[in-house]
Amino acid sequence: MNYKIFFLFGLLACWQPIAAQHTAHSFYATMALIDAEELQEEHPQDITILAKRRNEAAVFLTEKASHQLHKKVLAHGPGYIFQPSQDAAISALHQAPTVTSKKMPLPFSITEDATVLQALNSINADNIENHIKELENYGTRYHTTNSARRSAEELKDKWEAMAAQYDRTDVRVRLVTHTNTPMPSVVMTIEGAVSPNDYVIVGGHLDSTSSQGNNNAPGADDDASGIATITEAARALFEIGFQPEKTIEVMAYAAEEIGLVGSAEIAKSYRNNNVNVVAVGQFDMTNYNGSTEDIYFIEDNTDPELNSFFKSLIGHYNQTGEHALTYSTSVCNYGCSDHASWHREGYRASFPFEASFSNSNPRIHTASDTFDLSGTATHAAKFAKLCAEFLIEVAKNQAVLSVPDFEKEGYQLFVQAQNLHYKALQTASPIDQISLKDVSGKSVLIKNKLAFSGNFSISNLPTGVYIATITTENKRQLSKKMVIR
Ligand code: BES
Ligand code: ZN
Repeated sequence: MNYKIFFLFGLLACWQPIAAQHTAHSFYATMALIDAEELQEEHPQDITILAKRRNEAAVFLTEKASHQLHKKVLAHGPGYIFQPSQDAAISALHQAPTVTSKKMPLPFSITEDATVLQALNSINADNIENHIKELENYGTRYHTTNSARRSAEELKDKWEAMAAQYDRTDVRVRLVTHTNTPMPSVVMTIEGAVSPNDYVIVGGHLDSTSSQGNNNAPGADDDASGIATITEAARALFEIGFQPEKTIEVMAYAAEEIGLVGSAEIAKSYRNNNVNVVAVGQFDMTNYNGSTEDIYFIEDNTDPELNSFFKSLIGHYNQTGEHALTYSTSVCNYGCSDHASWHREGYRASFPFEASFSNSNPRIHTASDTFDLSGTATHAAKFAKLCAEFLIEVAKNQAVLSVPDFEKEGYQLFVQAQNLHYKALQTASPIDQISLKDVSGKSVLIKNKLAFSGNFSISNLPTGVYIATITTENKRQLSKKMVIR
């Protein structure tokens, strides 16, 4: 046995980790083992497999590889998750698999018709268009650039100004700094009036990238469109005066393009702090109309029940008329966007996407991902509507008025001899509907076309506490707590 040759072989094996060219643009990651092996066959210069465990690999990747990967994924896999160091990559392989069984029950009710209709009517595609162009005009939002940082700081200013414009004192905007990128994420919080510790989150990524050089990465569809979409949905909620019962957060993630970095850090810290996130919607690429249907729900790395809920929203609110839209399903086959960060931490996430995976925008990650490709933001506006429906129905609005406030608005509602009596002052808008919900939010009674005054029997309702909501003819909603004995 020639020990010298054996020793040389051993050395060579140890040297493997630096086979991929070590440049400033290389990084550590974890990814599916089959994808890593396939990539190693095809691009041995751009990937080094550091360690394997079960069906996962810790790798060292060049940035060029990540762009090649993206082209390849149109066929299948691979995506990767950024890791800050070799140690982190290898120890990530040994992390216990995420526990997915402890998800919070999802409130499945669809009850807020009047509010949702108002919100849908106020979504404006021009606002989305202008915002996409604003973001495109940074030239690049590549996570290490100054303009990426500026885009985050200025998005914070924009969101703060928007909240101020509608006198929202319940809104805060913060920059979240990260460990693995100099770019901060931006988070807008609308504090829940009833259950502030339950969170409903919508997000998209603010950074961009380009295989033609990261100084020219307009990222209009990927993902200025998503940021503009969630911004317009939030603005619509402000315009109609929607006050959520649960806390809503709107997130613009940093450094998604290099491996979901911003969202991964945020989702991990929410998990570590035991934050009760009820549901997460991801909006990444909303304005390229590349397929026959409008919206495609990505089925992998998402929650099947939340996906069904999104489809029910469309079934309820978007069947016919000016807000009609159609949907289908698709798959990425890898953790292709920030929904995967939340999914990994065991939270429910959905990802409504602009087209089927294979028909999605071919210009992303190039200098030509610009707004002029679509020319209007009508496709994105459909996503803003879905986003508003989701936020309103999951976060709900049970801002309950006190009796004096209720009467100050010109209405009376009281129980007498097993009848519910209602009255609107002649100066107030007539009553279109009265609905009663039990404390679990279940609708137990709805009466329509009531006009100014009258009463109806409630003798069939069990005793207990109810929330009564008056919807006026001018589509305002006023709620009041009622006790039925
Ligand atoms: N917006 C894309 C994801 C995407 C592209 C989804 C095309 C569906 C169709 C996202 O910004 C992205 O580029 N993701 C990376 C993977 C990530 C882990 C770095 C990708 O797809 O290469
Ligand atoms: Zn991208």
